[in-house]
Amino acid sequence: MPTTLKISVLSGDGIGPEIMTEAIELLSRCAALDGFEVAITEALVGGAAIDATGKALPDETLARCEASDAILFGAVGGPKWERLPPSEQPERAALLRLRKHFSLFANLRPALCLPELAAASPLRPDLVEGGFEILCIRELTGGLYFGQPKETRVEKGEKIAVDTMVYRESEIERIARLAFEIARLRQRKIVSVDKANVLENSLLWRNVVNRVAAEYSDVELTHLLVDNAAMQFIRAPKSFDVVVTENLFGDILSDELAMLTGSIGMLPSASLGTGDRGAYRFGLYEPSGGTAPDIAGKGIANPIAQILSTAMMLRHSFHLEVAARRIEAAVHRAIASGLRTRDIWSEGMQLASTREMGSEIRSNLAGGPF
Ligand code: IPM
Ligand code: MG
Repeated sequence: MPTTLKISVLSGDGIGPEIMTEAIELLSRCAALDGFEVAITEALVGGAAIDATGKALPDETLARCEASDAILFGAVGGPKWERLPPSEQPERAALLRLRKHFSLFANLRPALCLPELAAASPLRPDLVEGGFEILCIRELTGGLYFGQPKETRVEKGEKIAVDTMVYRESEIERIARLAFEIARLRQRKIVSVDKANVLENSLLWRNVVNRVAAEYSDVELTHLLVDNAAMQFIRAPKSFDVVVTENLFGDILSDELAMLTGSIGMLPSASLGTGDRGAYRFGLYEPSGGTAPDIAGKGIANPIAQILSTAMMLRHSFHLEVAARRIEAAVHRAIASGLRTRDIWSEGMQLASTREMGSEIRSNLAGGPF
């Protein structure tokens, strides 16, 4: 009996459905090549779910996710739902809730600049020549996003807004440990990013990371303050390997890293928790780029982040390393062939629609994983 992968597909809003279509077609092609089966349940999420049911994360959707081994997520949000009370908006009510509900504390965002895409990077050619890959590991369920109290109240006749930054030792320790384990599979170099010259949270962060580091003497650890890190990424992107940081810093820095690779349309992500499901590890996989309402529905979005997120799902949730590499290799070949969506296009390259890029990648799957 072939393995059956139970996947909830939550396409959401904006470019979500367009890029998801490409990923799903690719997944079924991959299943045929690598001998697994896929059982997909599609469910409503985000603005689309609000329009249909009044809620960004309907109970029905959550129940389907519960019954799956992984969630393949598109994107949520858009101008249409921005006037709702903040707690009902798609980002908070669906995405953040899913992250918290499934304790998805570790967000892996590999910012990959393929050598062929160096020209798409806004950086000077000599800084990105030969490409690079920086893995940003972002803590995803703590910090300012979730700390309580979180409110706006009136004091002395004016409004005052409060967000609370909280980290427990155990939360820092588990993300640090994961970062060190992953670094061991790579170049054994970690940069931990904090703001220890100002924040109590960062002092604790740095202490705990140092304590964990003592168990990994084979991995080189450096601490950078977040403002300096933002600068060093631009100055010398090729000198980085693994970056680990707290939730808000990771949100900001991962967008910067994505842009250094040429486009946020290239950045996949995996959000992992503690929960194993038998042989599988539950996770949520999403492109980091969001709904891009300005280009939604035009068929020009880059499907690569969604496709690479699918590869991450096969690797991290289903341990199908060969299939994951097959997808990554197919993406690489499609890029090498000169095809480019608008976001990564440069002089002399062939402009492709979402559909054309997806189909070129699919046709390269049979070429094998390497
Ligand atoms: C991301 C996004 C989300 C975040 C938003 C949509 C809530 O920017 O995944 O990076 O801030 O985490
Ligand atoms: Mg973000």
